[in-house]
Amino acid sequence: MPHPIPQPDQAPARRRFLARLTAATAALGAAAGAWPLLASLAPAADTLAQDETVLDLAGLPPGGSLLITWRHRPVMAIHRSPAELEALRKLGPAPFETDTEALPWPIRTSHRGLRADLAVFTAMCTYDSASLPPPERQGERAGRFRCPWCGSHYDLAGRPRGYGPARLALHVPPYLALRENRLLVGRTAPASA
Ligand code: FES
Repeated sequence: MPHPIPQPDQAPARRRFLARLTAATAALGAAAGAWPLLASLAPAADTLAQDETVLDLAGLPPGGSLLITWRHRPVMAIHRSPAELEALRKLGPAPFETDTEALPWPIRTSHRGLRADLAVFTAMCTYDSASLPPPERQGERAGRFRCPWCGSHYDLAGRPRGYGPARLALHVPPYLALRENRLLVGRTAPASA
């Protein structure tokens, strides 16, 4: 029995169908090919795990400091003693502009922290990213961070104090209080809290 010859008015519809099928197949192929590349761009598990880090302040005495790693950067918590807070108040505003407005809400305070007695900074110099050692708490340079590279000084609110080339205050990461002695670094309290 001979094959039915397709009717002339069926050819365009058939062509359209084949064209769409080809296009769909090509799109699927492209997506399948692109997927591994897209998947490789996603942050690695350890980076995601670093996205939020708990900072346990239990046992951090006034005048003490604590260093953790957040997003592969050193983050330092400083417990400011009443004497240090008084010294900070007496120091007055920093010689350069402070970044209070840029601070994550609700950390927008003159002492650049959620609590007056507690400061949390990314411990990296804002001039050339040198890692900063804990601030000196005794002696002539008490109440100062000192950059080991070019000697910039920061006060205990992380503001540059005119020594050295640094002009920007130390970065304050987003953080919130989980409870009295525990902070979550990586997130701030929702604006409605
Ligand atoms: S890197 Fe800190 S002052 Fe140069």
